[in-house]
Amino acid sequence: MELLSRTDSAVTSDGVPQRTGNNLDPWYANYAERAAGFAASEVRALFAVASRPEVVSLAGGMPFVSALPQDLITSSMDKVMREQGPVALQYGGGAGVPVLREQILEVMAIEGIDGTVDNVVTSTGSQQALDFVAKLFLDPGDVVLAEAPSYVGAMGVFRSYQASVVHVAMDENGLIPEALRQTIAHLRGQGRRIKFLYTIPNFHNPAGVTLSAERRPEILEICRANEILVLEDNPYGLLHFDEPAPNALRSLDPEGVIYLGSFSKTLAPGFRVGWALAPHAIREKLILAAESAVLSPSSFSQLVVSEYLATADWRGQIDTFRGVYRERKDAMIEALGEYLPQLSWTNPNGGFYVWVTMPDVLDSKQMLPRAVKELVAYTPGTAFFADGRGRHAMRLSFCYPTPEAIRLGVRRLATVVNGELDLLDTFAGTGTLQLPLTPGVEPAPPSDLK
Ligand SMILES: Cc1ncc(COP(=O)(O)O)c(C=O)c1O
Repeated sequence: MELLSRTDSAVTSDGVPQRTGNNLDPWYANYAERAAGFAASEVRALFAVASRPEVVSLAGGMPFVSALPQDLITSSMDKVMREQGPVALQYGGGAGVPVLREQILEVMAIEGIDGTVDNVVTSTGSQQALDFVAKLFLDPGDVVLAEAPSYVGAMGVFRSYQASVVHVAMDENGLIPEALRQTIAHLRGQGRRIKFLYTIPNFHNPAGVTLSAERRPEILEICRANEILVLEDNPYGLLHFDEPAPNALRSLDPEGVIYLGSFSKTLAPGFRVGWALAPHAIREKLILAAESAVLSPSSFSQLVVSEYLATADWRGQIDTFRGVYRERKDAMIEALGEYLPQLSWTNPNGGFYVWVTMPDVLDSKQMLPRAVKELVAYTPGTAFFADGRGRHAMRLSFCYPTPEAIRLGVRRLATVVNGELDLLDTFAGTGTLQLPLTPGVEPAPPSDLK
């Protein structure tokens, strides 16, 4: 349901808008215009359905936290409370706990980043850092450039500040420099104000691709020449399967890039600890934004993460995660090849996601109820575009279900896709759809997921 626009509300003779309200929400007419940007995403609506145990959810991006050493986490919490209880339970500084910010430098060094503690600001997940950057830079009507497709959670933040997302084409090597040049020139020609390029260079959510090492300096050069800031969002960078990702964009241009990192995928999202590494001038304003939003991020969470980093083999744990996710990715790619050979998909070298493209006649959003009925869930491609594209695509996540569940989920998906194609072929009478049901694929019984 759309919010009423301001002009729809009644106004008294002294110019005070009258609350007209509606049946569901008496405060309907009082919301700020920017509240219209808070629309429930497809992902969110899906969580309710997809969390039923009998559904194989290939929809969400939940890390497999059961692979963590639970006792080590417990002992980190215990130690923090025994040795630093009064600090952990107290407010902290707006920039975050200094010792953790030192350790974050070590984490970022793996990707070639050479920063200073002063320029690291911790946040409540990198999602909050996204919000701070948007709050600092975006006025209504501004443009944010983003890959096509892009992370639904970031686009929601940009929308909430009444900015427009304009997509830039990408391919299997990430953002296409020439497309970036053309998009900038086109927007400038229209007099639009571009505030930053939002990019997920590694193991992209949702596309699964990685920006090649060759393209990185070129993308930065284009942005520098056009005075466009780069917002590099990198929660998956360390979760590679074969070759590590190329060095971070931030390592190539410390003054032109705000880098966002997170412990959500390499440790656990429940701590809600992420960070921004910003050019020095911006970092001051980021801290002010953080203080105005939360006073200080959770001291307790930051100290537990810091203790974990100091005592656990966190690099070894990331290797463990990489092994788990690699096995699951392989299961998904194999199952797609076996059950849905008529579709195409990306084959990521890290992260959580595969992007699947279907024949044009299929609509992933329309197909979703049927999929849920077959007890499999995915995220429709439209969730990842600001402009309505993506109907023929979907994002499949391999991070959470076991390899067996992934196979079962893809098999069920094949039942749905083939059923839809069959139906269209029968009733549309176009005669153009000759895609056969995949040989040997039987509809999977719902109860066979243990
Ligand atoms: C690309 C991207 N950025 C940011 C986030 C937010 O992560 P968090 O707030 O848990 O650090 C996510 C979460 O899935 C993501 O995929």
